[in-house]
Amino acid sequence: MLWTTLLALTALVEAAPQLKRQGTTTMLRFGCAQVVIDRLDPLVNPGLVPSPHVHQIVGGNGFNASMTTGDVSNGASCTTCAFSDDFSNYWTANLYFKARNGSYKRVQQLGAARQFNDDFSTKIGGGILVYYVSAQPGKITAFKPGFRMLVGNPNSRTADPAMKRQNCFRCYTGPNFGGDVSAPCQDAKIDTQSLPSQPCKGGIRSNIHFPTCWDGKNLDSPDHKSHVAYPTSGPATFLTLGGNCPSTHPVRIPQLMYEVVWDTTPFNDKNEWPTDGSQPFYFSYGDNTGYGQHADYVFGWKGDALQKGMDASGCMGAKCKDMKTQTIDNAKKCSVKTTVNENHDGWIAKLPGVEMPMNM
Ligand SMILES: *[C@@H]1O[C@H](CO)[C@@H](O)[C@H](O)[C@H]1NC(C)=O
Ligand SMILES: *[C@@H]1O[C@H](CO)[C@@H](O)[C@H](O)[C@H]1NC(C)=O
Repeated sequence: MLWTTLLALTALVEAAPQLKRQGTTTMLRFGCAQVVIDRLDPLVNPGLVPSPHVHQIVGGNGFNASMTTGDVSNGASCTTCAFSDDFSNYWTANLYFKARNGSYKRVQQLGAARQFNDDFSTKIGGGILVYYVSAQPGKITAFKPGFRMLVGNPNSRTADPAMKRQNCFRCYTGPNFGGDVSAPCQDAKIDTQSLPSQPCKGGIRSNIHFPTCWDGKNLDSPDHKSHVAYPTSGPATFLTLGGNCPSTHPVRIPQLMYEVVWDTTPFNDKNEWPTDGSQPFYFSYGDNTGYGQHADYVFGWKGDALQKGMDASGCMGAKCKDMKTQTIDNAKKCSVKTTVNENHDGWIAKLPGVEMPMNM
């Protein structure tokens, strides 16, 4: 997600006088550097050490295996995110290259394609970009302390048509993020639900959109999904500006989206790819289709900091009125001690924990 989308969004907002009258859309877009890589999942496997697969985690340093309830902003003293009141945790599965000899090597995560209004986008090495969009008109209610949710299913190995606009990959077709031309998950010709089948000259991007409607009562649910829902028109996109919520989930919440970019370029030599022509990248949970891509969220903004951002008009990027920010150097000082000590950067013979059942 990038400047072209921002321009499209700005153009749309300007073209719609009724939006202007009632307040304009705000899109916070900011980097969060890595806080730890660990085999923990306090959302799906609370208290389990180690959990079935390795994740890359960003955000507050309150992250631990059993952060199951309560206001996580109280358990954190620093964050890796550009907005320094954001002690939330965001995590996704790691990606690995599988060599012909069967060994795996982790693919490094990168910053974003282009800088937008901040010093984080291109310097978050190992982190992700986070988006919170408030598609006005109408009230957008920020998440409450203790709120958490999950998108995707690591057990999926086939395409779910309902996920098409919500969970996709972009193959950057040239160096310097070539092919970064339109909003994520909108163009079936360039965005795929499966991992790209060919080498991507500029790396691979993953975008995951979370639901934008909430039941207004439950901070979580047994499957970590049922307390939230997509609008009646299907997954929201930035360009459709929201949509109506179903009566079961009437409360409009911010459009949260993660953007992960992997530098797959050291692994683009086809002579090192599988001889059967398949692609060589595997998620930490043993998936080489990409259909199991999933993302976890635990809300942890301090006080009403996120609500203020969502109520503000026209904020775009990593700066917004009174919202506090920090420098990237400061953010990178924040970290969490690894609980499950494993080799994250060398060649490994198998994906850690991949034999454990994933109880989803
Ligand atoms: C984990 O985090 C929770 C929530 O912040 C906190 O209550 C708990 O004490 C932490 N556990 C450990 C072992 O640090
Ligand atoms: C497997 O292949 C990779 C890539 O060619 C190589 O770097 C690694 O040392 C090999 N590992 C073993 C155990 O042979």
